[in-house]
Amino acid sequence: MVFNPEVDRELHQKAHRLRNEYVLAVRGKVRRRPEGTVNPDLKTGEVEVVGDELRVLNESRTPPFLVEDVISADESVRLRYRFMDLRRPGLQKNLVLRHKVSGLVRQYLDQQGFVEIETPVLTRSTPEGARDFLVPSRVNPGRFYALPQSPQLFKQLLMISGFDRYFQIVHCFRDEDLRADRQPEFTQVDMELSFCDQDDIFRIVEGMTAAVFRGTLGIELTTPFPRLTYQEAISRYGVDKPDVRFGFELRRVSDLVRECKFKVFAEALEREGVVKAINAKGCASFSRKELDEMTDWVVSQGGGGLAWVKITPEGWQSPIAKFFSDTERSDLSERIGADAGDLILFGAGSGKIVNETLGELRIQLGKKLKLIEDNKYDFVWITDFPLLEYDPDTRRWVAVHHPFTAPRDEDIPQLDQEPGKVRAQAYDLVLNGNEIGGGSIRIHQRELQMKMFEKLGISPEEGEKKFSFFLEALEYGAPPHGGIALGLDRLIMILCGADSIRDTIAFPKTQKAFCPLTEAPSEVDGDQLRELFIKLDLKKPNGK
Ligand code: AMO
Ligand code: AMP
Repeated sequence: MVFNPEVDRELHQKAHRLRNEYVLAVRGKVRRRPEGTVNPDLKTGEVEVVGDELRVLNESRTPPFLVEDVISADESVRLRYRFMDLRRPGLQKNLVLRHKVSGLVRQYLDQQGFVEIETPVLTRSTPEGARDFLVPSRVNPGRFYALPQSPQLFKQLLMISGFDRYFQIVHCFRDEDLRADRQPEFTQVDMELSFCDQDDIFRIVEGMTAAVFRGTLGIELTTPFPRLTYQEAISRYGVDKPDVRFGFELRRVSDLVRECKFKVFAEALEREGVVKAINAKGCASFSRKELDEMTDWVVSQGGGGLAWVKITPEGWQSPIAKFFSDTERSDLSERIGADAGDLILFGAGSGKIVNETLGELRIQLGKKLKLIEDNKYDFVWITDFPLLEYDPDTRRWVAVHHPFTAPRDEDIPQLDQEPGKVRAQAYDLVLNGNEIGGGSIRIHQRELQMKMFEKLGISPEEGEKKFSFFLEALEYGAPPHGGIALGLDRLIMILCGADSIRDTIAFPKTQKAFCPLTEAPSEVDGDQLRELFIKLDLKKPNGK
């Protein structure tokens, strides 16, 4: 917009007083920009408006940061002024994309015969492994609703009610430790189907995801997505949400080092541990400092250390080379495909720690060496999760997915003898190393559900007390059913190329579950508490 001082001096002076973020109404004529002032970077860079009338509809205080895509403002400031932050083009784009994805999901599922049904937000606890957010009831003194961690039980009840295909784009609430990919409230694309098997669910989710990628990024995904069992994922990538966009896979080498003279390996194997290795292709040039940093990181994560071997044209170069015979060296090199110029990294110890540390180290190496292509979208289904996992802290078995997940039929007899070996009919959808969805085929018979509760240390009385409505419903002709929920925020994060789900949510919370804009959670009036029959008894940490 330009105002010509020679045509209207007063108007020109008024225009001079305009500041960033003012809201204006201007009347004028559009004209081609004079030569030399054309800006090819702007969509409207070839034209300008010559103003002959100017009204200020509203002024703006000096913005806390510039409304531009790349800014240096701290995230806490951005969240405090989220209404300004959301004016930035990047965030606008993300939210519009989010809107588009919801639309595509609804359209696809509608075509597949799904019915969107809303489930309650004020409800009973639905266990998904996090803590509940509780809401006191004024009219029922001393009683609390729980906000749903997911609509799990309601969607199962809907199957029992005869809605064969349900879906919902739904808010879920979980009081858990937050990270870049976790918020206390987040959105799921939740679905449930009757008379289905795992393959039916995979087909629908693949079709839906393909429709989303086609309709947003214009990318044609290849379906069906590859599948890995949980065991394979852990064995090859160390984690159950592998980023399969690059190699550097983990290989078990326990059998090859059993007889070697390196004590660390021998001791790990004596203690029923494992020795695994990564061939970091072409990394023999890593400096001592880089190797020490990686070792320190492994130790900080509870690992014993990181043994390394550089393969040079002259042979093995490593502080531990002397402990290995020529046969051991060549067998190891062959197993992991190591040639001159490569770096072998070894982890020894308990399977859990070795997998966790080498699995994460693999990702760090992938990033550092730029082996991960940004615009690649590699989906993988992880199947056959274990049903139960032992928690040494509470000395109980806990459900790996949730307590309503069915075991594999052929593994049911093992429930009593070896609960840890029972596989579940549960699956996750993983995209570029992110868990973007999880689901299972459910238990649909009361007897098996009670058995599952028993394994989880939930007594029949407790089971009845917490889930009687559900156990009862299972007795009225519950059809076989199963489903899945996708984390919408995480999917959008990947579609937008964002680093955090906070950039896909209009009004997110901080890592401390705080909203700097509204300052929620906040203290409440004594009157409000009295109405709810609640008395606070706050013991400050450290007696302060
Ligand atoms: P699950 O607990 O695996 O399954 O959750 C499904 C998906 O939701 C996303 N998600 C989250 N996203 C952001 N912030 C969080 N705090 C958060 N927690 C989970 C993840 C996850 O894969 N009722 C079952 C589904 C079923 O069995 O059908 C459930 O909720 O992407
Ligand atoms: P040390 O004998 O403790 O001097 O260790 C020799 C090398 O083995 C060092 O590079 C250590 O980082 C490495 N190391 C020690 N413990 C482990 C372990 N549990 N797994 C893999 N490497 C280890």
